[in-house]
Amino acid sequence: MSPKPKFQTPTGTKDILPSMQPLWNFVLTSFENAAKFYGFDRIDTPIIEDAELFIKGTGMDSDIVQKQMYNLKTRGGDSLVLRPEGTPPVVRAYLEKGMAHLPSPVKLYYEGPMFRYERPQAGRLRQFRQFGVEVIGDSSPVIDAEIIQLFAVMLESVKIKEYTIHINSIGTEQCRVKYKKILKEYYRSHQRQICATCRDRLRSNPLRVLDCKDEKCQRIKIQAPPILDYLDDESSKDFKAVLEYLDSRNLPYFVNPNLVRGLDYYTKTVFEIFSGLPQDEEEGVALGGGGRYDGLVKDLGGQDTPAVGFAIGMDRVINLLREQGKLPPKKAAPRIFLVQISNLAKKKSLSLIEDFRSAGINIRESLGRDSIKSQLNLADRFDVDYALILGHQEALNDEIIIREMESGSQETVSFGSIILQMKKRLARKVKKSKK
Ligand code: HAM
Repeated sequence: MSPKPKFQTPTGTKDILPSMQPLWNFVLTSFENAAKFYGFDRIDTPIIEDAELFIKGTGMDSDIVQKQMYNLKTRGGDSLVLRPEGTPPVVRAYLEKGMAHLPSPVKLYYEGPMFRYERPQAGRLRQFRQFGVEVIGDSSPVIDAEIIQLFAVMLESVKIKEYTIHINSIGTEQCRVKYKKILKEYYRSHQRQICATCRDRLRSNPLRVLDCKDEKCQRIKIQAPPILDYLDDESSKDFKAVLEYLDSRNLPYFVNPNLVRGLDYYTKTVFEIFSGLPQDEEEGVALGGGGRYDGLVKDLGGQDTPAVGFAIGMDRVINLLREQGKLPPKKAAPRIFLVQISNLAKKKSLSLIEDFRSAGINIRESLGRDSIKSQLNLADRFDVDYALILGHQEALNDEIIIREMESGSQETVSFGSIILQMKKRLARKVKKSKK
């Protein structure tokens, strides 16, 4: 066994190796195309942001702010963090760059790495990528349904057909204040039967007791008064409307009264999309989640502006596709290998490579090698159809040799005609292999 390398990826991070890049590109391009069709424009925000943005935005009581942020103290004494999520940065940019003056709603999408100091386990990383969308400036429930539809379209665009939408409404701030009291009241008589985290949460962020996964808390949770019974009229009406829109599109949703989401800014609709069908016994993984956040723009210093959005965990989507063995179609590998011998040939090769690129023909080469044998071996390993051999004499004579790899037959042609020659040969070979 080879010795363990001295340096490894930090815990909870990973390399995306060349072999995986086509799958990542396929997912990213499919998601981008869907988002663009729905009128979203791309935004990129920095990976580092002011810590205060998340304390105010994601919320002091959230796990993210409490224990998951990577804090950076700069030499200048600024308190920055590696961004744990994309929503507060997008709202910061919206306010800072005057996007409130653009036609409303403003629809933005982003993709990039997020950082959370979590205990790594299956599907949970410390650096992971999210694809997110945010619609800022529209309070209609049809927008909630539209983005859930977009989420579904994105999953289907990468051939994920089995998923379940968990949806709930947590109402406005006012109804939550009332509901939190009722929930605390209910849990008061069950203090001894719940886990220590829930006991803490009852004090700091009572709604979170509803998404505790601890087995002994489940029994208590089932009997808890559902938040949907305590919504104000407007939240209730909006939630009904969202469900009706989803019904009209036949989207597979499931009203989950325990879904509260761990970020403090949510209001009204919240949702999470899991892999697998509603009837599956095993709960799938959360591929993404989102909801309305009608108070965040104001909390971050803007006017009262409603908003809604979601983020998909790209790594989880990729894992699912890999598990299901769904890989994007392989890109055609280059069918030509350029062999060169001598300095003059290397010089001419540099310009020839550019000519092939301009002509849209992929080729392989190994300019650092000098031996013809090792270059032809490589050509064999790459399984190309043709090797082009540019020796010192050919370079002097303005010629080049075309070698057909399968038969070994060779022909010398003029250097200037090689692009045209290869275009013809490649086209002929395609025709032959199609017969
Ligand atoms: P979130 O639920 O915290 O929401 O994250 C969204 C998705 O990111 C999760 O469902 C999961 O797929 C992925 N994810 C989160 N943490 C990890 C992790 N440690 N490792 C791998 N994947 C992870 C948000 O971030 C909100 N900003 C979504 C949103 C946008 N709400 C409104 N607009």
